Order: sequence, then C-alpha cells, then structure tokens
Amino acid sequence: MSLLFDNTSLELGGNTILRDIRLELASGEQAALIGPSGAGKTSLLLLAATRYRPSSGSLSVLGDNPWHLSARWLRRLRSRIGMVYQSPPLPARQRVIHAVAAGRLGQSGTLAALRRLLWPDDGAAIQDCLQRVDLADKLWQRCDQLSGGQRQRVGIARVLYQQAQLLLADEPVSALDPRLAEDTIRLLLAEASASEASLLVSLHSVELALAYFPRIIGVRDGQIMFDLPREQVHPGVVSALYADERLAESVAQPAHAAISQGLRC
Ligand SMILES: Nc1ncnc2c1ncn2[C@@H]1O[C@H](COP(=O)(O)OP(=O)(O)OP(=O)(O)O)[C@@H](O)[C@H]1O
Ligand SMILES: [Mg+2]
Repeated sequence: MSLLFDNTSLELGGNTILRDIRLELASGEQAALIGPSGAGKTSLLLLAATRYRPSSGSLSVLGDNPWHLSARWLRRLRSRIGMVYQSPPLPARQRVIHAVAAGRLGQSGTLAALRRLLWPDDGAAIQDCLQRVDLADKLWQRCDQLSGGQRQRVGIARVLYQQAQLLLADEPVSALDPRLAEDTIRLLLAEASASEASLLVSLHSVELALAYFPRIIGVRDGQIMFDLPREQVHPGVVSALYADERLAESVAQPAHAAISQGLRC
C-alpha cells in the first residue's frame, strides 16, 4: 500500500483544513484529485508528502508511519516520495542541471549529496530526464531565466531523476498550454507505470482527469465527496462537486424571506 489515510484530519492556524480523510492508494495505482479551489487538494498532497503532520487519525506512506520514524529514516522515506509543485521552489540563480540533480539529494549522506549537487556526476541521466520533458537544450540555463511552464517541467524532470516510488503532483500542468499539458500528463502516467510507482495528481481540469485517470477522487470543504472509477463520474457528480454554495444561498434567501413575510401577513 502506498498511501493509507485512516480518519486523518489536518488543522492549520486553528482551522480544520481536512476532516476524517479515509483513502487508500495501492502500489502502482494512479488517481486524480479534483475539486473547487480551497477544497484541500494541496493540503492532502502535502500530508501525503509528509510536509504536514496529521492533527488526528493516522497516515501510512509507503508502509511507514512517517511520524514514528527517526529523523534519518524520515529523510530516507522522503527520498522515495517525489513531489511536483504547481510552482516548483527553484532557487533563482540555480542552473537547471543542479535543480534536477537535487531530486536525489536525500538518497545519500549529506556530504556526498552536496558534492553531487554541486558537481553532478550523472549528467547523462539528468540530460535524459530533461529530454523527456522537452528541455534538453536548457541543461545549463539559470532557473530564473525560464518561463513558468519551463520551470514546471524542470520540477517534473527532477522527480523523474529521483525515481520515486510515490509520485505526487499538485497542478503539474497549470502553466502549460493544452497540448503540452496532455503530453506531460501522459509522460507522468507512463513514467509511473514503467517504474511501478503510485501516482496521485491534483488537477483543475476535470476533462484531463477523466481522459487519463482510471480513478477520480472529488474533494470539497476538506472532505472526500466521492472516490470513483472514471466510468462512474457522471456530469451530475461533477456539478455537485463544483456547485457554488453562495449562489445556492442567494437564490434560497429571497424565497425564504417571502415565505416568512407570507407567514406574517
Ligand atoms: N498554511 C495554512 N494555514 C492556514 N490555512 C491554510 C494553509 N494552507 C491552506 N490553508 C487553507 O486550507 C484550505 C485548503 O487549501 P488548499 O490549498 O489545500 O486547497 P486546494 O484545493 O489546493 O485549492 P486550489 O485549487 O486553489 O489550489 C483553504 O481554505 C486554505 O485557505
Ligand atoms: Mg492547491
């Protein structure tokens, strides 16, 4: 089992962000997270990436409870988890080759890792990962001289290089044009399949999620509203997930007011 959320909740700044999440992701499984803005998709991925600690309930990642591990074993666990961020945190002056090499930072002792980061001895593998995201010519480019979409693809090349067993991606194609977005989703799915890694991706595009992922998880207001095979995600299910509560309230209020006025007459 790659991920097991058991009644897991997350509180941040005194607010409940995720409530009683129950979710299993088997080894090698591929699923998309969808839901309105603020639903909790990023928070759920950050919990899975062990960047947040659950406030209650339990969470197992690649068979371990991250919060029962020593610092050393937690670092090892994290080196097996690849996270693609919506805006990859790439230091401005860093070169692309170093940004990709950082994918394997957690896989060796600190000194060896730093040496490899500064003088990557694996240029061919890094180049190959950049080739797969169509950035072969950017090896020595500075990250702050890349477009948003190119930075996003450097983030993807980094997890390809990392060879993670659990791939998490938060809006990995938000800065890409539609053709590149589809190519990138296909690439993530193919890479995950080839390495038998599990893949959990949050997407704003329901269309992309339904076109490419066998399992769709709908999140809203910090809870899982549905977790279904793609064939069962009918338009009504999607509309309910994205229904605007404020609109529903503003439509309901005048009717409610009229009824109470009627009662008064
Ligand atoms: N560090 C934090 N402290 C307090 N509240 C937070 C924090 N991070 C996120 N939140 C809140 O948690 C809720 C869920 O946020 P999250 O970023 O997980 O949503 P999301 O589904 O990823 O949204 P989007 O589609 O806009 O990326 C939001 O209401 C957000 O304001
Ligand atoms: Mg988000």
